[in-house]
Amino acid sequence: MGHATAPLRPAKAAKSRALSGDVRIPGDKSISHRALMLGGLAAGETRITGLLEGEDVLATGRAMQAMGAALRKDGDTWIINGVGNGCLLAPETALDFGNAGTGCRLTMGLVGPYDFETTFTGDASLSGRPMGRVLEPLRLMGVQVRAEAGEKLPVTLRGPRAPAPISYRVPMASAQVKSAVLMAGLNIPGITSVIEPVMTRDHTEKMLKGFGAALEVETGADGARTIRLEGRGTLAGQTIDVPGDPSSAAFPLVAALIVPGSDVLIRNVLMNPTRTGLILTLQEMGANIEILDPRQAGGEDVADLRVRASDLTGVTVPAERAASMIDEYPVLAIAASFARGETVMRGLAELRVKESDRLAAVARGLEINGIDCTEGPDWLSVRGRPDGKGLGPTASNAVVATRLDHRIAMSFLVMGLASETPVQVDDCLIIATGFPEFMTMMKSLGAEITEQ
Ligand code: S3P
Repeated sequence: MGHATAPLRPAKAAKSRALSGDVRIPGDKSISHRALMLGGLAAGETRITGLLEGEDVLATGRAMQAMGAALRKDGDTWIINGVGNGCLLAPETALDFGNAGTGCRLTMGLVGPYDFETTFTGDASLSGRPMGRVLEPLRLMGVQVRAEAGEKLPVTLRGPRAPAPISYRVPMASAQVKSAVLMAGLNIPGITSVIEPVMTRDHTEKMLKGFGAALEVETGADGARTIRLEGRGTLAGQTIDVPGDPSSAAFPLVAALIVPGSDVLIRNVLMNPTRTGLILTLQEMGANIEILDPRQAGGEDVADLRVRASDLTGVTVPAERAASMIDEYPVLAIAASFARGETVMRGLAELRVKESDRLAAVARGLEINGIDCTEGPDWLSVRGRPDGKGLGPTASNAVVATRLDHRIAMSFLVMGLASETPVQVDDCLIIATGFPEFMTMMKSLGAEITEQ
């Protein structure tokens, strides 16, 4: 079910005593989507532990089932029996991706080159997001596209009899576009190449190799990466252990930094360098984050984080870092609200096309909670108040509009934990798309959050 017509459930977060405890972060959303897609495509059985059981990922699982994969859960393990590369079946009805941009865009790539029709739908948020960035390379491969004006969902794709491989330079820093082209390349004869001028999360490349695809990556002197994939190879089922999502860890992490006296251990956090920009930025701001027991799990770097409340100082976050923390700016803005001085975040154009226009959603939310900030076309600056004094709704009925965006809801609930007066958000149900355990986990640390 999408959230287009779902009721909203408001929630409130109030000043909390020191947070403490030990939490384990649920599976990474990006890796979970890809595990289900490639597991559903590969021949044989794929066994997945640590899968994120959020609505977004479950929508991807349903889509793979609709195209012939068999999916079941045995204890803590998800088992998916794939169809074999090139053998997806035409789904009988439209694939509804709810709120999930990653599931939708990557599946468009995965099935786009097949010589049958597939229709994609989503909730009000996803239906407002640009799909042209994926449709453009698919058209170059010969895929026919029927889309609403403005390249929005619903979209129907039909592949050509003989799809052609392309070499595609991704025009914006987007792992979804890169991955959609690679997924499409799996069912196209010859070499599909993707050039990404700015490195984005590399889970698709890593996982494709793990499943046996012939893929190579070359990094040029200018840092641009060229990924070459030979299509129509055999993919074989794998065993995948999904590490914890650093983009989810970000919420208890920032909460522990801003609530005085906190000391929290966050276990099982993916430390892939394409995902750790927030940790680096917070450390530059003076955050006390200890990286414990660094290890490998499921082919990825993983660690535990010990986080203690810290006096933060504003910094300038360079645009080049945006790709490695693109989903973390809303919660960084909350950390910045409790820092001394100004934090300037640059290179944020992509935030305008996330689950909401996150730049606007964050700026409006900060303003109605008494935080001095400036929103530019692709930047945000926040002038913090380290003691949280005066923070909270500037009018008694001011409520943050979450705009069907889970990260806006979670960020402002974190803010309320250290603000003088409680912060309210208009909906917390949307959090189930990406981090269903959020409320329980935060409450277990001592966070004063109530659903209304
Ligand atoms: C994702 C890529 C990013 C990110 C999203 C997950 C992925 O999107 O914001 O949450 O799993 O590939 P873009 O590719 O649009 O930057």
